[in-house]
Amino acid sequence: MAKTTHAMYARHSLMDSIQSIMTRKSVRQYTGEAISEADLKIILDAAMSGPSTANTRPWSFIVVRDKETLIKMAEANGRAANPLRTADIGILVCGDLSRAFPSAKDYWIIDCSIACQNMSIAAHSLGLGSVWLGTYPQMEKVENQVKLFNLPQDIIPHSILAFGHPDPQEPDRPKTKFEEDRVHYEKW
Ligand SMILES: Cc1cc2nc3c(=O)[nH]c(=O)nc-3n(C[C@H](O)[C@H](O)[C@H](O)COP(=O)(O)O)c2cc1C
Repeated sequence: MAKTTHAMYARHSLMDSIQSIMTRKSVRQYTGEAISEADLKIILDAAMSGPSTANTRPWSFIVVRDKETLIKMAEANGRAANPLRTADIGILVCGDLSRAFPSAKDYWIIDCSIACQNMSIAAHSLGLGSVWLGTYPQMEKVENQVKLFNLPQDIIPHSILAFGHPDPQEPDRPKTKFEEDRVHYEKW
């Protein structure tokens, strides 16, 4: 893939970042229309643009477009992963323990979560839909994905992100989650 330039992002006239965060929703039904390689590149670039523990970037990504493999990924993760059945792309986000911060390796879980969130925000900004499909720490799902992709020992499945063009039939749920009573100022 070509190296990213800032001009490449300007081309998309992306929505404001606050608006993108506030309006993102999980999308579980897709039209079947293909996601462009350029948009895929932006999503992957966003994944790898987040902070990570001591800049270790302890992640790897398996990009899947093959329909049969998408179905196998759905089966391996159980019913909650059904969105993969109509997705154009599924990305298995994996932790790479060989790159994890040596004195606190478990930070890889946080680093991979940030990558997932960045991908979902980027997809939304591009007008695409996505849903996060949890895998780690549900070890049966983790082991199923390890088997499916024949992963090396240091590579741990963390999550799957399903992507596609949003189905217009997808319910337009209101989205206000702010809860004042969750916030404590200065003391508990
Ligand atoms: C760690 C994690 C795991 C999730 N796993 C699933 C899943 O397996 N299947 C699914 O349909 N949604 C899954 N979701 C999406 C949540 O259900 C969704 O984010 C939540 O209901 C809030 O809705 P919203 O994303 O539209 O704001 C997951 C989200 C997270 C952060």
